[in-house]
Amino acid sequence: MTAPPPPAPCFAVRELSKRFGPVLANQSISLDIHTGRIHALLGENGAGKSTLMSMLAGRARPDSGTILHHGRPVVFASPAQAIALGVGMVYQRLMLVASFTVAENLALHRPDLCVRQAATLVQTLGQRYGLDVPPEARVADLSMGQRQRAEILKLLARDARLLILDEPTAVLTPGESEQLFGILKALAAEDRAIIVITHKLEEVLAHADEISVLRRGRLVATGIAPADVTNRGELARLMVGREVVLSVEAEARAPRPPLGEEVLRLEQACGNGFAGLSLHLHRGEILAAVGVAGNGQERLAACLAGLERFSAGIVTVAGTSMPARDFQPPRRLMACVPEDRHHVGSVGNMTITENYMLTRDHEFIRPAPLLRWLGSLDRRAATAAAAQAIARHQIAAPAPETLAGSLSGGNLQKLILGRELDRHPRVLVVEQPTQGLDVRAARAVWHALLQARAEAGILLVTGDLKEALSLADRVAVFFRGQIMDVVSLQHQEGDGLHRIGLLMAGAAA
Ligand SMILES: Nc1ncnc2c1ncn2[C@@H]1O[C@H](COP(=O)(O)OP(=O)(O)O)[C@@H](O)[C@H]1O
Ligand SMILES: [Mg+2]
Repeated sequence: MTAPPPPAPCFAVRELSKRFGPVLANQSISLDIHTGRIHALLGENGAGKSTLMSMLAGRARPDSGTILHHGRPVVFASPAQAIALGVGMVYQRLMLVASFTVAENLALHRPDLCVRQAATLVQTLGQRYGLDVPPEARVADLSMGQRQRAEILKLLARDARLLILDEPTAVLTPGESEQLFGILKALAAEDRAIIVITHKLEEVLAHADEISVLRRGRLVATGIAPADVTNRGELARLMVGREVVLSVEAEARAPRPPLGEEVLRLEQACGNGFAGLSLHLHRGEILAAVGVAGNGQERLAACLAGLERFSAGIVTVAGTSMPARDFQPPRRLMACVPEDRHHVGSVGNMTITENYMLTRDHEFIRPAPLLRWLGSLDRRAATAAAAQAIARHQIAAPAPETLAGSLSGGNLQKLILGRELDRHPRVLVVEQPTQGLDVRAARAVWHALLQARAEAGILLVTGDLKEALSLADRVAVFFRGQIMDVVSLQHQEGDGLHRIGLLMAGAAA
């Protein structure tokens, strides 16, 4: 018997490579895309998914390799050229103009239409595909789900034949995600090709027609049919790699400091996106909060950083309990390294010194002789402290006067983490601390976190399982706003990873 010949791909990439400085983001990747199918591109943070897709969408130029459109090589010098061939991408950071209405945004991309015609198009396309968005609403007033639908409408307004969505469900509720996949199925049924980037195993298995897996810039599997996946754990392992647990840094394996007193406790904490969370953290340990994006772990970190409010529960910091609703992170006890190091963690057009003082300015206030609160900033002391910090944390920067915005990602992160560690917190909350960093900078951050355990309890919110498994003593797995389980990593080898992968996918192991 002969198998039916495989359908010819509408788009294909051949040996595509892309390097960012020291990081080989894509290594010789070859992949076929077929019309009529939802192709899931799976991989953990930093695997190279967005890079690969932005080359296909004309936003990034490959260093080498070829993109084929119906077998013919094409070169995209800009997104416009990709769009002309029917490739549209919804980026992770949505690209709508927030102060414009949906119809105005659409008109920007269809200059042949006036706003009124664009509004009509929003309605017709919306009805046809179940993409319900009010055309006259300002984007700023829309939910994330609605904004995303507006982005998809933008692509459909130009009749995109290949729609690429970068982690579209990361910002959606489970109900909205289901709805989105329904829409994508309808689009695929019209002979369009769909690529969905995600790291949610469950939705991949439920909705994709085929699966490809990227790991550290390499394509480790492609053409997997969900029906052939008998074991979710296998898929998780493909994503994360067998070497994960074996590559634990020697330092992390070295004897851990003795567990100290409890520094943080949550009881039945609720907030926007999570409910009934209970956990405890002791000095001397790293507790990792992992989960696919949007399962509550980021919102918990935001509450602990004081950026969002808890709605119920009890928080205890270093022995002092308070109703979670009233919680404000006590400055002397808690510190936070936020995920967005450029906008939340630092101010780019301020100097290193000024950034170093951001969370610790009170230490550099020189009291005025009569009115204590009219103190002035002791600039010289601040500059000296910043210079010491540059040396201590090995930040590659010419001087304390250097603008933070000119630092590389790794050095900026060292500055932010160093600043927070120098405050000697009892509780340190760090979010995605090595995202986007090269290996050397990531190592420096890991080293600093392992050292910091001696003084603090660390809550590490990370999408990088390798990081969690390498550093943490315990791993709390988040799924749909709840902690599925807390897995202790001591004496665990491969099993821990397997179990965490299952829990992340929502399967009770
Ligand atoms: N514009 C960029 N500049 C420097 N490094 C980048 C850039 N874009 C991506 N990278 C790096 O390339 C690697 C792959 O990133 P990315 O494609 O965003 O991964 P994913 O989408 O799978 O999370 C990461 O190490 C990331 O830090
Ligand atoms: Mg990405």
